[in-house]
Amino acid sequence: MWVKSKLLVVLVEALLLQLIYGQGFDYNVSYDSRSIIINGERKLIISGSIHYPRSVPAMWPGLVQLAKEGGVNAIESYVFWNGHELSPDNFYFEGRFDLVNFVKIVHQAGMYMILRIGPFVAAEWNYGGVPVWLHYVPGTVFRTDNEPWKYYMEKFTTYIVNLLKEEKLFASQGGPIILAQIENEYGNYEKAYGDGGKRYAQWCAKMALSKNIGVPWIMCQQWDTPDPVINTCNAFYCHDFTPVSAKSPKIWTENWPGWFKSFGSPTPHRPAEDIAYAVARFFQKGGSVHNYYVYHGGTNFGRTAGDYVTTSYDYDAPIDEYGLARFPKWGHLKELHGAIKLCEKALLNGERTSLSLGPLLEADVYTETSGSCAAFLSNSDNKTDRIVQFRNMTYNLPAWSVSILPDCKNVEFNSAKVGSQSSVIDMVSEELQQSASSDNRDLKNLQWEVFVEKPGIWGEPDFNITGFVDHINTTKDTTDYLWVTTSLYLDSNEILENNSSQVLSVKSKGHALHVFVNQELQGSPSGTDFTAEIPISLKAGINEITLLSMTVGLTSAGTLYEWVGAGLTSVELKGLKNGTLDLANFTWFYKIGLQGEHLNLYKGDGLKSSNWISTMEPPKQQPLTWYKVLVDAPSNNEPIGLDMIHMWKGLAWLNGEQIGRYWPINSSKYDSCVDHCDYRGEFSQKKCSTGCGEPTQRWYHIPRSWFKPSGNVLVIFEERGGDPTQIRFSKRKVSSICSFVSEDHPSLSALSWTSPVNEPNDVSLTARLSCPGSTLISSIKFASFGDPSGACGSYTRGDCHDPNSVSVVEKICLNKSECDIKLTNDNFNQAFCPNTVRRLAVEAVCG
Ligand code: GAL
Repeated sequence: MWVKSKLLVVLVEALLLQLIYGQGFDYNVSYDSRSIIINGERKLIISGSIHYPRSVPAMWPGLVQLAKEGGVNAIESYVFWNGHELSPDNFYFEGRFDLVNFVKIVHQAGMYMILRIGPFVAAEWNYGGVPVWLHYVPGTVFRTDNEPWKYYMEKFTTYIVNLLKEEKLFASQGGPIILAQIENEYGNYEKAYGDGGKRYAQWCAKMALSKNIGVPWIMCQQWDTPDPVINTCNAFYCHDFTPVSAKSPKIWTENWPGWFKSFGSPTPHRPAEDIAYAVARFFQKGGSVHNYYVYHGGTNFGRTAGDYVTTSYDYDAPIDEYGLARFPKWGHLKELHGAIKLCEKALLNGERTSLSLGPLLEADVYTETSGSCAAFLSNSDNKTDRIVQFRNMTYNLPAWSVSILPDCKNVEFNSAKVGSQSSVIDMVSEELQQSASSDNRDLKNLQWEVFVEKPGIWGEPDFNITGFVDHINTTKDTTDYLWVTTSLYLDSNEILENNSSQVLSVKSKGHALHVFVNQELQGSPSGTDFTAEIPISLKAGINEITLLSMTVGLTSAGTLYEWVGAGLTSVELKGLKNGTLDLANFTWFYKIGLQGEHLNLYKGDGLKSSNWISTMEPPKQQPLTWYKVLVDAPSNNEPIGLDMIHMWKGLAWLNGEQIGRYWPINSSKYDSCVDHCDYRGEFSQKKCSTGCGEPTQRWYHIPRSWFKPSGNVLVIFEERGGDPTQIRFSKRKVSSICSFVSEDHPSLSALSWTSPVNEPNDVSLTARLSCPGSTLISSIKFASFGDPSGACGSYTRGDCHDPNSVSVVEKICLNKSECDIKLTNDNFNQAFCPNTVRRLAVEAVCG
């Protein structure tokens, strides 16, 4: 009896799983010129990239869920070869690299997956994702027609395909993967590789097809893709893209909703209005598969970042680095996705008619035989708002916007009208704390342990040579650090009276350098390729010149990028009595890595090394210092950033996990930044940057799942000198959520325009608030119905204000996770300011 009912439960569960996730059902995935076809039905795909190793497994379900709530129905990720094949045939799929687990989480969320296997990926990922060891396999040239490259690339691709097949993760087996990509943007470089490039591209397609995965293969930015492989578009706008084969659907694999950041550069932003415009234009012009690169950017933990790329890979994406929805971007795109979904049937099965409504004004109308109709009206003028007539109705089209009419009549969405809530996010600082013992929460002063390295060769040198070697060929990227030292004897009469005239002139292919003379730090130049003149002080007798050369991530893309070198190419001593001394003729001693790295000071037994010295007063501004401290987890459960603003540059770990490189280096105040971003007109990476002259990256994400309640080991290696007592944990907190609606349109966006006509379907008259996670609205900080102005966090009342505003909003919203406040007569006194366009601004606190 028990067995029978148990069996029944199992059967029902299996059936439910099949119904919910399609698990066990084999999908037939094919395509035609219009779209991807799944089990005979055309599908619209709105996908978002979440790179699994750029977050941690504990975050994956939440990120995928937040993407789903944002109206995304597929997740895209690259596969990161050098994170998986650590040395030939030595594979790793644990923790952040548990690809199978990630794909299963996507499946369980009932979403599709697009897997870009590459295995060259670019992605601002160290060495473009290719293992460094492959560069040293004789005869290998990356990404062109040669045996070792093709052998290892095919071997890894096959390994991944087989792994996923074994787990039945391709749609053809009932799994979520509906598309797979081979190579990445090879078409942009193919010509530079000559005939070998052409042969290689064709080989890639053939090799991929031979893996029989049962779902279509794609190649992005590839202009000679052979059928049935589909070529796809990557750009800020792809509405004008046409695939090479008339049989292929129009697919956009990379729509960049922001951009990545480099050390020493300001922070890029892309306005939500422009992203929505680009996406709407794509679907307007016949696109059917679209992917945000990236929907969640995440973190380049450890040493996974590409050359000079910051540890943060936030990307200004709809979900921020820490896993929180970015408002209003996330919300605006969610509304866009909802509107596009309403058009799905007509879009995919209807006939398209395009008509001009005037200069730069277009209507694209999709009509289906059954009568369903969807229309997109666009104004591509980057300055002028327009009023257009369409099917005997009048529509207001703001400059650089698209209106979506899922029934060819009512406007469901306009890309320039942001109705979504906004938010204020703070990094709330908390001092490092240490409880006396794990079960006794009495706090005690921080007990530090410290190890100071001596500049220069520790132990025996690895080798010596006259002159300089390439940094990467020497370290093989096992570490950022390479010690390079020499010594020279100077007679007292060789040094000029004025000691300040001596300069060390160094040239380096990159990326950073600390210069020590006689154990004293003299300067720290940096750049991807630089020349520096560093004033130094010498003494009569033997002088030790000690250089710590560093890489900050390896190049991740470009023709023959794997040959881009790093490190010193010339060192000269200028200002001696006899002129300049070329130190290239000297014998230089080399040592790979720091002593602390060799001692494994950041993990395992190294944490107990006898080199650590206890102190209550850790040294400040001390170069080459390792710090260790036991700390409690910050209170509550907000995401955590490690505040390193008082440190210079180095590496950080928590409980042996690699947080990554830190380097708050300021960007130049002369870079181009804006106070206010005009979303109208073509976007480019640098159009809307902020933070010129400010630290590139102050906070470094430490996933909550790396913490235990107390006794967490924080290890910092500081290269040049900082104040470790100023290191803080900062909690990323949504301090307020806001809504600003107006009688004339959903929001007075940064640019205001007057709307002389009423939209047929005005969705504007509701202010909607929704708290993150499981929090509830605990107070109303500001509410004004009248003519308030300002931005979330700094609203101010205008001349007219309904005195009941706060109590009305409190009544509707307090203690709710979300609420809708309608601008109706019942709620607000319409007698106020009869001759103005009235607005409601609300700022609420969630707790
Ligand atoms: C693309 C590339 C991506 C990424 C992106 C910029 O060209 O395919 O991997 O590098 O640029 O973030």
